Amino acid sequence: APSTSLVVVSNRIPLSFAMEQGKLTATPSSGGLVSALEPLLKEHGGVWIGSAGTQDSPEIRAQLKEATCGHHYHYEPLFLSEEEQAKYYEGFSNEVLWPLFHDLQTHCVFKPIYWDFYRRVNQKFAEAVLHVTREEDIVWVQDYQLLQVATSIRAQRPRSRIAFFLHIPFPPPDIFEKLPWRREILQGLLDYDFIGLQTERDQRNLVACLRTFIPEIKLDGRGDHRKVVSARGVTLIQVMPISIDFHELASVAASEAVSSRAAEIRCESPGLCIALGIDRLDYTKGIPERLRAFRALLRDQPEFRRKITLIQVVVPSRENIPRYQELHSEVEKLVSSVNGELAEPGWTPIQYMHRSVSHEELLALYKAAHIALVTPLKDGMNLVAKEYCAAHVEDDGVLILSEFAGAAPELKTGAILVNPYDEVGVANALKQAIEMPVKEQRRRMLRLRHQIQSADIHHWRDLFFASLKRVE
Ligand code: UDP
Ligand code: G6P
Repeated sequence: APSTSLVVVSNRIPLSFAMEQGKLTATPSSGGLVSALEPLLKEHGGVWIGSAGTQDSPEIRAQLKEATCGHHYHYEPLFLSEEEQAKYYEGFSNEVLWPLFHDLQTHCVFKPIYWDFYRRVNQKFAEAVLHVTREEDIVWVQDYQLLQVATSIRAQRPRSRIAFFLHIPFPPPDIFEKLPWRREILQGLLDYDFIGLQTERDQRNLVACLRTFIPEIKLDGRGDHRKVVSARGVTLIQVMPISIDFHELASVAASEAVSSRAAEIRCESPGLCIALGIDRLDYTKGIPERLRAFRALLRDQPEFRRKITLIQVVVPSRENIPRYQELHSEVEKLVSSVNGELAEPGWTPIQYMHRSVSHEELLALYKAAHIALVTPLKDGMNLVAKEYCAAHVEDDGVLILSEFAGAAPELKTGAILVNPYDEVGVANALKQAIEMPVKEQRRRMLRLRHQIQSADIHHWRDLFFASLKRVE
């Protein structure tokens, strides 16, 4: 019998293409999903199906082939029209599901046409899966853009094994109920055999929504495994927090190139405590709130001026969506007003970058930073928090972490936890971090590193394969 292979399906593959002035450019896709799944496929082998970001061409196919040359996996690109991209990706995925699932209902644009396109494009992904796989393969669909893919696959292959992982939070019933298509979305989820979620919070919410809106199901199991029996069959719902390739990151961080670049970054801000923020430019990341907390510290406690600098990298994201454009200008206004108000010759409070950085530069920034400021308003996991700790191979540094990040339950004993809406609280956490004795930094960082290392991306993969066995 042919052996099974792993088929990962996500909205985009790790390389995004665009046509710029008649020339094809390829850039690595950013975000936690790609960071986590790339090492998994490299190791396990298989196929990755996702959109390529632009129209089909032999050049794109050649570049994709070359990108995985010598590995056991390959990319199967999918091509969406501009209208599909606008209504399925920007529309339903990022103006409905993304804000709603992060508890920001007021940001939602509930246009019925978005829903039509969402279903249509999910069907298109399902057709791509049917086209390149066999019934015995393991299909693992990723994230909120593709909640309805299993439904279309099932229609043709009722016995396929289809799994899902949600990288973002699942909202509680009183927020989820605003969705005009709430029942269809939940029914679509029950077509999966397995649903992986980041935290217990998300599992509790999904189970509560299922109970509320599909009362005819039966629930079984407890703890981090729940079983739902529906008319279609059984769906296992499991908590499995996503993670990073700890050893890979730690070893790159320890390399000569990264160490000397980190030393250089520190030299450029001599004697200053470096606080670091790295985020996609997204309203869930709490960037303006963070900048205001930083300003509050400097305004209210002038002794910290010329003692600390904040390096804030924002990676451009979803730039066609009005909310993201508004955020972009809000952040830039705030940066310039804080710097205008407080900068002095030879000292800039906020060093701001609006672009992505290379893997090595990212690790050098992590390593150079005395403090990481990770303050999302709500986040599925937040891999930046874990990557920062992995890069601190000398066991120093302080992680300030939002209690609403999915990473908080795992990292709470080593990090300083904050409420990102509490300006005074975040300013106090910064003060505590600046003044933290090295001994306490070490004690906390050792805990953090130990935790992340023991639940790394390989552990996550093992949990997945173990769960699939339970499903069978
Ligand atoms: N990242 C990136 N390019 C950059 C800066 C960061 O690809 O220029 C990566 C970072 O290493 C991390 C991911 O983007 O793995 C962000 O993941 P996270 O879970 O923190 O948030 P998300 O963007 O997925 O919401
Ligand atoms: C988050 C989502 C991912 C998404 C990533 C980048 O991590 O969970 O599904 O890929 O952000 O966003 P983008 O819209 O650029 O793919």
